[in-house]
Amino acid sequence: MKIIAIAGSLRAGSYNLKLARALESIAPDEIEVATIYGIPLYDADEEDGGLPPLVAELKDKLAAADGWLIVSPEYNGSLPGVTKNAVDWLSRPPADIPRVFGGKAAGVVGATPGPVGTRLAQTAWLPVFRALTSVPYFERALYVDNAAKVWSDTGEVLDAKFRERAEKYVEGFIQFVHKLRRG
Ligand SMILES: Cc1cc2nc3c(=O)[nH]c(=O)nc-3n(C[C@H](O)[C@H](O)[C@H](O)COP(=O)(O)O)c2cc1C
Repeated sequence: MKIIAIAGSLRAGSYNLKLARALESIAPDEIEVATIYGIPLYDADEEDGGLPPLVAELKDKLAAADGWLIVSPEYNGSLPGVTKNAVDWLSRPPADIPRVFGGKAAGVVGATPGPVGTRLAQTAWLPVFRALTSVPYFERALYVDNAAKVWSDTGEVLDAKFRERAEKYVEGFIQFVHKLRRG
C-alpha cells in the first residue's frame, strides 16, 4: 500500500517539508514524500507539447498509489498558489483524473509558525478533492501551529505531543485507505 505525501512548499527550510518527512518516518513502508521543486507554472500552450517530465513522473507515482496527502502551507487564509499549481498540472489531461485521483483517499495536513495551524488552507483544499473525485479523510485532523517550536532548524522534533498527534493521524489515514480499497 502506498500513499504519496506532496510537500507543498519550495522553501529549503520548509516546515511542511519537515511535516511530510515526519509522517514518512512514522510509516516508511506506506508513505513516500514527493516534492514540487522544478514544476513550472501551468501553461496550456506548454501542455500542448506534452506534460513537463517532473509532472509526468509525479502523476505516474500518484496513479500507482492508493492514497495521497497534501502537506500544505497556508497563504493569506487559503492554499498557496505554488501548491495548487502543481496539483493543477497533475490534473491534466482531465481524462486521466479517474486513473490518477479517482476514488482515492485524500488527506490534507499542514504546518505554520502562526497560531491557527492551517485550518483555512485545509478547508480550501476540499473543493479541489471534490473536483479530482478523491475521497477526503475527515475522521482526524492534523493542524501544526507554532511550528518553530515543533522542529529545530535541523529538523529534529522538539515537541513530544506533535509526534503523538502525527502518529494518530497516520494510523487513521492508513486505516481509511485500507477501508476504501476493500470497499
Ligand atoms: C504570502 C504569504 C501569506 C501567508 N499567510 C499566512 C496565513 O494566512 N496563515 C498562516 O498561518 N501563515 C501564513 N503565512 C506564513 C506561512 O505559514 C509561513 O511562511 C510558513 O513557513 C510557510 O510554510 P513552509 O515553512 O512550509 O514554507 C504566509 C506566508 C506568506 C509568504
